[in-house]
Amino acid sequence: MDVTEISIRDLDAEKFIKVQADKIASVVGDGVAINALSGGVDSSVVTLLAHKALGGRLKTIFIENGLMREGEAEEIVGVFADLGVSVEVVDAKKQFFDALSGVTDPEEKREAITQTFYKDVFGKLVKESGAKHLLQGTILTDVDETVAGIKRQHNVFEQLGIDPNDAFGYNIIEPLVQLRKDGVRKVGQALGLPESIYNRMPFPGPALSARVIGEATSERVELVRKATVIVEEELSNTSAFQYLAILHEDKVTGMRDGARDFGLQIEVRCWDSVDARTATPTELSFKTLSKLAERITGEVPGVVSVTYNIGSKPPSTIEAV
Ligand code: XMP
Repeated sequence: MDVTEISIRDLDAEKFIKVQADKIASVVGDGVAINALSGGVDSSVVTLLAHKALGGRLKTIFIENGLMREGEAEEIVGVFADLGVSVEVVDAKKQFFDALSGVTDPEEKREAITQTFYKDVFGKLVKESGAKHLLQGTILTDVDETVAGIKRQHNVFEQLGIDPNDAFGYNIIEPLVQLRKDGVRKVGQALGLPESIYNRMPFPGPALSARVIGEATSERVELVRKATVIVEEELSNTSAFQYLAILHEDKVTGMRDGARDFGLQIEVRCWDSVDARTATPTELSFKTLSKLAERITGEVPGVVSVTYNIGSKPPSTIEAV
């Protein structure tokens, strides 16, 4: 099915909310729907939109997959409690790390996450809840990149000829699929989400596993999580579109306390972009870069090298996996 884009110029957020909320209410009827909230802009907007349409008949779940940023579950549960939406946290760390064990190829990694999320974890939750519908925040950029074969986004099925009902046993509703990130932010603002959420930096569905090159073990994810805290603290005062840390697979020779230390490499990326379709590296000052290097080598165990990406998208992409 072709998706018609609603550009930011043509978007009337209030009207969009009304049309989509009515549509959700009519598709779900008097049944129950379920959705996964990761705390990203897209899933947060879907949560509030569907809550508006369904009230208590929407069950919202935060999947603790072991791949999220530090403190994410508590923070998001708190933000949504303030908005009157209760969120259940489900611990699925073991399932995700088992699925990622030994997987090094980027697309296989995404597939492992997709199957674990939709089939194993959500398949069970949907069955238990009696829901027939899963609401999710797929946006047009996800569809474009998947259809073009650039990156298999974890949340795109129909456009790849996959029927979620056959594959997973439930229907998927995607109210944001005609929008790009800027449109989603506008809808989030109109819905009354706090600015810290609707203007939040994008974060990929496969979470920190998209930022570990090679096998995403819990130890390696923990290292990139520590580096992510530093990068987010040091760059939060920039107006960049997105910034991130990547843990590389290759080691390099370093030295510590006068001895050889064959250690890890972290790459920092910081992007200027409007809609993630193209992006250029932010011109950070050398002082900022030096501070990042000093903190990452000092605070993340085993890291001896920190690099800054200066390539643009294309040919690069925003995430490294
Ligand atoms: P790329 O890396 O393709 O990313 O330039 C474009 C934007 O999408 C985010 N991203 C993802 N989001 N599932 C998502 O929900 C994914 O698999 C995924 N991969 C990348 C990325 O963070 C950037 O904002």
